[in-house]
Amino acid sequence: MSAYPPPLPGGTWTMGDLTVTRFGYGAMQLAGPWVMGPPADHDGAIAVLREAVDLGITHIDTSDAYGPHITNRLIREALHPYPEGLHVVTKVGARRDAQGGWPTARRPEQLRHQVEENLESLGRETLDLVNLRLGDAQGPQAGSIAEAFETLVDLQKQGVVRHLGVSNATAEQVTEAQGIAPIVCVQNMYNLAHRGDDELIDRLAAEGVAYVPFFPLGGFSPLQSSVLSAVAARLGAAPMSVALAWLLHRSPNILLIPGTSSVAHLRENVVGAGLPLSDEDLAALEGIGRG
Ligand SMILES: NC(=O)c1ccc[n+]([C@@H]2O[C@H](COP(=O)([O-])OP(=O)(O)OC[C@H]3O[C@@H](n4cnc5c(N)ncnc54)[C@H](OP(=O)(O)O)[C@@H]3O)[C@@H](O)[C@H]2O)c1
Repeated sequence: MSAYPPPLPGGTWTMGDLTVTRFGYGAMQLAGPWVMGPPADHDGAIAVLREAVDLGITHIDTSDAYGPHITNRLIREALHPYPEGLHVVTKVGARRDAQGGWPTARRPEQLRHQVEENLESLGRETLDLVNLRLGDAQGPQAGSIAEAFETLVDLQKQGVVRHLGVSNATAEQVTEAQGIAPIVCVQNMYNLAHRGDDELIDRLAAEGVAYVPFFPLGGFSPLQSSVLSAVAARLGAAPMSVALAWLLHRSPNILLIPGTSSVAHLRENVVGAGLPLSDEDLAALEGIGRG
């Protein structure tokens, strides 16, 4: 008899003591436009989350800044009590302002408050994994992260947080965090067209640390490339499928968290990520982010 649900493309990866499917789900797009306010289709958002779990996904990425508070509450409404083996990964370090901006909020008391808010909105007593979000809306910014990261390490020692990661981080900040306490993942922007972290990905793979690309499909500006379209057409597949399959192929420590507010897109992405890519396809795709 075959297993149901069938195994997801890419198999699994283990972060600390959390084993997750490499095909995960990024929940940011479930909030309203520009990640503010409630979704236009509340029941549709709930359906996407339940479908993710039904498909066998065990890694959901979120933040209480999405909405704010909206996305976490949707996750709780859809999935609480959480099924065994499902891991919800959140991040702290930014808040939302009235204009929808993402000002940084990394002082110790702000981080502690955000962890409390995540516990409350997700309905948990312990958070599986918390990423310290660094930099700003323009991307990573150099500078010491010690005070903020040490605050999360304190919370980890208190048992409120199980594992730690960093997000939107420079390679130097990853090293600085690792000098303070182990991290199990780095979540940075990376996709076929934005390959600034190639070296970091290889280093983290050698260290056994997960790399979780955000905007794997281009985020608010969907990936567009004539090469990607040509490879997709040759394979009879959607460009998004090729982009996800390429990421799984790129390195074994890459975990996918593509976002969608559509059950149909979620299903399409799961199938698409398993697309076999030939050497010819890979050679063509290799040129995209190297120009
Ligand atoms: N650490 C950070 O600072 C940070 C920053 C940004 C995001 N993130 C995380 O990364 C996750 C992924 O990023 P993201 O959701 O912003 O961007 P993404 O995964 O690159 O792209 C999501 C967009 O792609 C569309 N899409 C998905 N599947 C599709 C398909 N099969 N065909 C056509 N369009 C498709 C979605 O639209 P539909 O809804 O119509 O499918 C959505 O607009 C987020 O959910 C969040 O958890 C983290």
